[in-house]
Amino acid sequence: MQPAPRPRPAIKIAPSILAADFSRLGEAVAEAARAGADYIHVDVMDGRFVPPITFGAQMVKTLRRWTTLPLDVHLMVAEPELQIPLFAEAGASILTVHAEACAHLHRVVHQIRELGMKAGVTLNPGTPLAAIEEVLPDVDLALVMSVNPGYGGQRFIPSSLDKLRRLRGMLDARGLAAELEIDGGVNEGTAASVVEAGARVLVAGSAVFNDTESVQQAVARLRKAIATASTPRSN
Ligand code: DX5
Ligand code: ZN
Repeated sequence: MQPAPRPRPAIKIAPSILAADFSRLGEAVAEAARAGADYIHVDVMDGRFVPPITFGAQMVKTLRRWTTLPLDVHLMVAEPELQIPLFAEAGASILTVHAEACAHLHRVVHQIRELGMKAGVTLNPGTPLAAIEEVLPDVDLALVMSVNPGYGGQRFIPSSLDKLRRLRGMLDARGLAAELEIDGGVNEGTAASVVEAGARVLVAGSAVFNDTESVQQAVARLRKAIATASTPRSN
């Protein structure tokens, strides 16, 4: 008898408001929600961990009023431990920290969970997976950066696919349920391959918020690209 085919994994789309019009971010969030986004990805940059400065916990608090979707906050900041209570209070749902920014990564992910948020960890393209391997059982989300953080609209770094595959393998082999997210250069051209490599949450900035189409059309286009992926795994 043939084994039953495994169900297709559900793929989530997390539009990054970094690419939206900063003068109307509330509306951008509402638009993304109407278009069927699963998370809203919020890129916090402090001018130290990465050169640009975007916004902080106060913005999360404001955006919280515009949607009931989970706010997926990506902290590109030095000393993230100082800001964790502020983001909890502001209503962040998932708080992701960079391994490179944390001298005590294990403590930081536990601090995030203790304050009622989901904990995420991420790493730059040049950082090996070993930097997060030990905390994988303690996190809800693992994010692979497929560009060097700091800017939207960059080109996807092809070696990220192999990193994704290896991380997918680690999670599956250890029976860990952390969501595997990918961020940077995700668009119609790269979406299927990141899903095939094991990603289950796709961050997309410039592919969702751009001048050429509506957010609705952009999200539909991404979903269509995702549907062409052949995904043998079930998680
Ligand atoms: C980069 C940010 C990304 C960025 C992605 O530092 O972490 O979330 O918004 O932008 P695109 O999708 O345009 O590469
Ligand atoms: Zn991001």
